[in-house]
Amino acid sequence: MLNRRGFLTAAVGVAAASGLAACAKEDDSSSGSDSGSGGGGKKITLGFAQVGSESGWRTANTKSVKAAAKEAGYTLKFSDAQQKQENQISAIRSYIAQKVNVIAFSPVVVTGWDAVLKEAKTAKIPVILTDRSIETSDDSLYVSFIGSDFTDEGRRAARMLEKVLAKAGHKGAVKIAQLEGTTGAAPAIERAKGFKEVMDAEHKDDWKVVVSQTGDFTRAGGKQVMAAFLQSNPDINVLYAHNDDMALGAIQSIEAAGKKPGKDILIVSVDGVKDGFVAMSEGKINAIVECNPLLGPQLMDLVKKVNDGETVERRIKTEEGDFMQDEAKAALPDRKY
Ligand code: AHR
Repeated sequence: MLNRRGFLTAAVGVAAASGLAACAKEDDSSSGSDSGSGGGGKKITLGFAQVGSESGWRTANTKSVKAAAKEAGYTLKFSDAQQKQENQISAIRSYIAQKVNVIAFSPVVVTGWDAVLKEAKTAKIPVILTDRSIETSDDSLYVSFIGSDFTDEGRRAARMLEKVLAKAGHKGAVKIAQLEGTTGAAPAIERAKGFKEVMDAEHKDDWKVVVSQTGDFTRAGGKQVMAAFLQSNPDINVLYAHNDDMALGAIQSIEAAGKKPGKDILIVSVDGVKDGFVAMSEGKINAIVECNPLLGPQLMDLVKKVNDGETVERRIKTEEGDFMQDEAKAALPDRKY
């Protein structure tokens, strides 16, 4: 593998590695025997640049990646970019300098990756996108993208809202507050797009997004932004949150404002983490669109194939379900994250 790679200057390597140490949290875990490459060959080293630890979804995703790498017997170099693109770029540069076999990452935002991915390509290190996609003019900069269809999740959220409104017997104007994910991130852009698509096509007269702002996919962000929404638009009757954590934060602000989440304000969110299901079983969230974070095992299979030089699928979609409030209690014990 080493002889297939291009040469990086020591200066670039040192700068990249020290940049990473300064900005991101990194940990290395070696595990298993040397059978990680499957054929008794050299153990695979995977560099994984994670977004951060902003949500329950992300925590579950990180656990899944770490456990699956251990199970596969790979050496995993893992970094947490704390939701900053510059940290992820430094991590990827560090993995290039360390000559890992494969790089995988969940891009914080969609744009701005071409330069560093060209460096990986020059070094002949294949790159796999996990969870989130990127915008690039050069499709050869990554080999595969494994993750959810976020636009479809947005459409599914709108469909769930139709059901929630019908179940609540709601009549009249639907005044929607939207808590967006991280600005510029694929799930924020695409979940808004898919939802709007259904709304514009079928509910132009009765549904309106009256206020929409980022809560950065965090509980604290959801709480803070929802409090501001309730001040500026006290007649909001629906919340569409791009993830459960923001919905959970928003619930605190709704209750602090003397309103009942799930009744005065109907709530649809995305992810399906355990805490979201608990809130749903308590009647505080009305419906959840599932987004599966357990990508580790599929990613490790893909890493092996890529490392072995096999042709892999360009796009691998995750399978997911949708849940209404009355399904929450029964589904809760089986939630894996
Ligand atoms: O990219 C997936 C999204 O990122 C999840 O929906 C959200 O919870 C996370 O932070």
